[in-house]
Order: sequence, then structure tokens, then C-alpha cells
Amino acid sequence: MTHHYSFVGGTEGPWRVIGCDTIVGAPLEAVPRLSVINAPALDLPDRGAWVLQGFTSNVRYAERHEINQLRAKQEGLGRAVSSCAALIPIRKNAAWWALSQDERRAVFETQSHHTEIGLDYLPQIARQLHHSRDLGEPFDFLTWFEFAPEHTAAFEALLVRLRASPEWTYIEREVDIRLVRD
Ligand code: HEM
Repeated sequence: MTHHYSFVGGTEGPWRVIGCDTIVGAPLEAVPRLSVINAPALDLPDRGAWVLQGFTSNVRYAERHEINQLRAKQEGLGRAVSSCAALIPIRKNAAWWALSQDERRAVFETQSHHTEIGLDYLPQIARQLHHSRDLGEPFDFLTWFEFAPEHTAAFEALLVRLRASPEWTYIEREVDIRLVRD
């Protein structure tokens, strides 16, 4: 099984797009539906209006104690109650990528408390991070979240907290796509 995923925006797929907000940078073309396919875009018969690709990978920043906390609290994708989802593609700027690994970890957790904040929203929000930068994609990361409708407000609160953090000053492109499964 491949770790490579394609997010296909177009007229097909189980997820209906209910919102597509450009937070910063260039927008993405609005589409009515989205499918998430566990394959590279080259292998797809229908590439829709756009395809964003990424791959799941090992952790870069999480430390042992954080990995343990995440594993103890998180739930997986595909829960029956998770009829809502968000696809938030993100690109970080050159200043971020010029930092060393230890400097990036300091911004990500010591200054921004990304994992500590995120843990407050588990297990209600299920998540999967996809890496795109090394594929030469327009975004560096494709972040995917699934939750039940009653946890939408909690998800908004999570976004407010993360977007106010020092880490977000390095984000030069972010599009927030909301979806429901029907
Ligand atoms: C990375 C946790 C929500 C965007 C990470 C990592 C963790 C984490 C542990 C680091 C993975 C590693 O070590 O490589 C969480 C938790 C969340 C959450 C528990 C709660 C639901 C979010 C949200 C967004 C987001 C809502 C976007 C709006 C990202 C991005 C990265 C990341 C872009 C990659 C950062 C980089 O490598 O530079 N997250 N996160 N996360 N998260 Fe979150």
C-alpha cells in the first residue's frame, strides 16, 4: 500500500464542499465535490479541476512524551460520526525553510504550543498530516480533519488559537475547505 494520497477537487466524490475560504495567498478554484484517493495523481482516471498530492510520513517535531499523549487520546479517520471534514492546504515561507530543525521545533512547540493546543481537541477532531513540499507541489502540507457536526465550533476555536500563534506568521498560503459527507 502506498503512502501517497491525491485530493481531487471536481464534480465527483463522497465529500460535498460547503465552504472554501482563502486565509492568505492565492485562492484555489471553487469546486462542488472532493474525493480522497490513496494513489498518486498520475494513476487517476479523473483528475477533476485540480489535484493536490501528499504523503503520510514519520513525525518531525513530536517528542516521545507528546507522541505518547497523542496516541493515548487520538482517534482515527473514517469514524461513522465524522460527517464533517476540513482540508486545509498550507505553504510556509522561505524564512521558515531557512531555519534549522531545532529552530523550527522552537517556533512550532516552545513558542506556539501547536501540539499542546491540538491535544485539547482530541479525540473529537481526528487528523492526518500529508507532506507535499518534497513532491514539488504548490503547498507544503495538506492537513485533513474529520469530526461530528456538533464539534464544528470546537474546530473553529482550535483554528483561532493556532492562527494567532507565532508559527502562523510563517504561513504564506492557506486555503480552508470545508466538507460534508452525503
Ligand atoms: C504538524 C498536532 C491541528 C496544521 C503537527 C504535528 C503535531 C500536530 C503533533 C507535528 C508532527 C511532526 O512531529 O512532524 C495537531 C493536533 C491537532 C492539530 C493534535 C488537533 C486537531 C492542526 C490544524 C492545522 C494544523 C487545525 C491547520 C489549520 C499542521 C501543519 C503541520 C502540523 C501544517 C506541519 C508543520 C510543519 O512540519 O512545519 N500537528 N495538530 N494542525 N500541523 Fe497540527
